[in-house]
Amino acid sequence: MQTFEAITGRHGVLRYRSTPVEPERIERVLQAAVAAPSTANTQPWEFVVVTDPPLVRQVAAYLVRTQEEFVFRRLLEAPEAFVAPLIRQYDDLGQVPCFIVLCRHQRVDLAPPAYSAVIRDWDLCSLGAAMANLMAAATDLGLGTRWFGNPVMDEGGAFLKRLLGVPEAGEIVAVTPLGYHDEPAKQRPRQPLEALSGFRRGDARKLAALLRGKLALDEVVHCDRYGRTCGEA
Ligand SMILES: Cc1cc2nc3c(=O)[nH]c(=O)nc-3n(C[C@H](O)[C@H](O)[C@H](O)COP(=O)(O)O)c2cc1C
Repeated sequence: MQTFEAITGRHGVLRYRSTPVEPERIERVLQAAVAAPSTANTQPWEFVVVTDPPLVRQVAAYLVRTQEEFVFRRLLEAPEAFVAPLIRQYDDLGQVPCFIVLCRHQRVDLAPPAYSAVIRDWDLCSLGAAMANLMAAATDLGLGTRWFGNPVMDEGGAFLKRLLGVPEAGEIVAVTPLGYHDEPAKQRPRQPLEALSGFRRGDARKLAALLRGKLALDEVVHCDRYGRTCGEA
């Protein structure tokens, strides 16, 4: 697969096969992750690779619980009638063979305390770059991923930290399943801007519109000056 296809072909996969992922492939996606840029090369990341079946099942069950309670009910305020069909999409997560948990770990005392918020923002950018690399490499290898940020909403992932023995100073930022899957490439229709500007929490149709498609380049790209269309005279 070409690099471009690996990047643009990625989509968030929810339905996995239970086939184990070969250790060499897990190592390869991690190699891609740690090749990412980071502030002053501080590499503020750590990865917990979970493949032990009982642990994997606990992580899956936890992500589904957190999705239902924190994302669907509290954050998106989805009407109760929609919570059940929404959460059914996560039914197969229990058979995922592997999860990768991405943690922030500050190893370098890079800047004075006055800049700690800046450093945290930069660390999260670095972790995002690492995760994007990991996901592209996984797509290249025929593996699916999906970014789960929901543990952050639940006491900063305290349950997962305890379950996996992550030290107090470690901060769980994201979790992704990693596994083979049969989900077809996702359709990426052009998404109208109104899908975002018209979003209303608690409205299931607005949520569906928000999740469908991607904005066109000309909605998000400006040339030379903000608001100037590329190719404009
Ligand atoms: C920071 C971040 C947090 C996310 N958290 C969740 C989550 O908790 N649960 C979930 O199902 N998807 C989560 N996602 C996945 C997004 O919903 C998904 O990427 C988005 O709908 C676009 O779909 P795509 O990944 O197929 O392009 C998260 C993505 C990001 C970048």
